Amino acid sequence: MLLSKTQTSTATSWIEKVRYHKNKGTHFKFPVNPHFRYTAFLFVFLSLWFLLQVFWFPSTKTHPLPKTQYPTTTVSAISTASYEVHINHKTTKKSSSPKCNGRVSVYVYNLPAEFNLDLLDGCSHLNVYTNMCPHVANSGLGQPLDNMDLSSSDSNPWFATHQFIAEMIFHARVENHPCRTWDPAKANLFYVPFYGGLHVSSKFREQNHTIRDALAVRLINYLHDQPTWRKRYGKDHFIALGRTSWDFIRTDGGPDFGANCLLNLPSVKNMSVLTVERNPWHGSNQHGIPYPSYFHPSTSDQMLTWQRMMRQSNRPYLFSFIGAPRKGVDKAAIRDEMIKQCMESTRCQLLKCNGGNPKCYNPSDILTVMRESQFCLQAPGDSFTRRSTFDSILSGCIPVFFSRHTAYTQYAWFLPGEASKYSVYMDEQGDESKRIEEKLLKISKEEVEKMRTTVIDMIPRLTYAHPNASSSDLGFKDVVDVALEALAQHVRNKIQQDDLEIAESRY
Ligand SMILES: *[C@@H]1O[C@H](CO)[C@@H](O)[C@H](O)[C@H]1NC(C)=O
Ligand SMILES: *[C@@H]1O[C@H](CO)[C@@H](O)[C@H](O)[C@H]1NC(C)=O
Ligand SMILES: *[C@@H]1O[C@H](CO)[C@@H](O)[C@H](O)[C@H]1NC(C)=O
Repeated sequence: MLLSKTQTSTATSWIEKVRYHKNKGTHFKFPVNPHFRYTAFLFVFLSLWFLLQVFWFPSTKTHPLPKTQYPTTTVSAISTASYEVHINHKTTKKSSSPKCNGRVSVYVYNLPAEFNLDLLDGCSHLNVYTNMCPHVANSGLGQPLDNMDLSSSDSNPWFATHQFIAEMIFHARVENHPCRTWDPAKANLFYVPFYGGLHVSSKFREQNHTIRDALAVRLINYLHDQPTWRKRYGKDHFIALGRTSWDFIRTDGGPDFGANCLLNLPSVKNMSVLTVERNPWHGSNQHGIPYPSYFHPSTSDQMLTWQRMMRQSNRPYLFSFIGAPRKGVDKAAIRDEMIKQCMESTRCQLLKCNGGNPKCYNPSDILTVMRESQFCLQAPGDSFTRRSTFDSILSGCIPVFFSRHTAYTQYAWFLPGEASKYSVYMDEQGDESKRIEEKLLKISKEEVEKMRTTVIDMIPRLTYAHPNASSSDLGFKDVVDVALEALAQHVRNKIQQDDLEIAESRY
């Protein structure tokens, strides 16, 4: 335990250091609109590419020009998604089953079991802090929750899902996905279902780095032997990790807080990495995916019913905070500040999580606080991101962020480009965060209504649907659908760019 404590505190103080150093660093400046540069880059790149298509390969028809780009169209993508849900709802039984849209064709590697399923046999040792056995049950959804709303419907959509288990749910969903192909020649995406997060958390206390890294190194050796890898040097390959990228980026001579070196392996840099928290500065091949919450519906009916309930939910509290004060100077500052402000306000509901308060581990208690609140404060915890952001959105509670890296720089595939449409931002160091209530009271009722509507419309794409859901009943795009589509687009762009460079170098 002693060891683990030192390791955690080193880890967090290191992340804190990175964070504050980077915040002050000269390299790191947010433009007025953080997406502007990216959009501008895409525009220039696509224009060049288009010209090249027209003048260089006039007869090429195999790669249709992508109609939409991220992140500028995310908003319309969301409204389209919710529109589709409504359509499907009205015509539920008759509607043609949503099949694969043709832009995604994903091949799933049948890895040797040591990289995934065999790890589950030792589930009691998978995490140095907790017994993971109850959490890896039901393909990673965990234990079913009773006494929740909607739990009386055909299949109970509620589970006590662990926050760091996304990789298992993702795997189970892709295995059942309508866009899965068994023919590598037809695939445009290659999924490597490695349970890297579960594995790394079982080795946090392993002192010998060779042993700690061994499985990751074996995985790469395995991939290098596959003809499917060699075709594109892994550029069309991806892994999904249920833990933050900080757990996989140990460097030689850097601080050791239990991480392995997975994301620093050269081959992994050629791949795309989906993770619940990307490194905002050195993570160009890392893409944020949501933390799993507790709701895993199998049908669009369950989703629509829940969304309707959240729209109608009575929200007597202006804001709420769920969390514990943290030890360590930097963190204590903002968290203690929130707890203090919340206690001083009659409009705030506080769920204080020190001393192992059991309510903080009870999904039903957490969701109850959130669905009674209009705004939910999201203080950074041990790292920038929090599972709580997704619990909050699921509850129709508008998230309030204090760091840009809690969501805006993380989940570009999933969130509307314009942050003010669905969230409130108060700089952690700034004055506003000293007067949270005052700032929130200034937002008009109509504005709050509009934001909440946006938040509730976002729920489907931030939800991990039940892996056994039949695609004809689901009728909405969940995390995995959105991720696969965005990834396929990303890989297409990457490969086109490579081909362009090769063509240019020939010339
Ligand atoms: C999905 O279905 C399979 C086959 O019926 C079953 O074994 C498995 O437990 C189901 N998964 C979940 C999460 O319910
Ligand atoms: C770490 O483990 C490897 C493989 O078992 C071994 O060869 C090496 O000597 C160990 N290193 C240390 C410092 O103990
Ligand atoms: C990564 O991709 C490049 C081609 O873009 C290739 O030259 C390089 O060898 C690849 N790296 C590894 C480790 O496979």
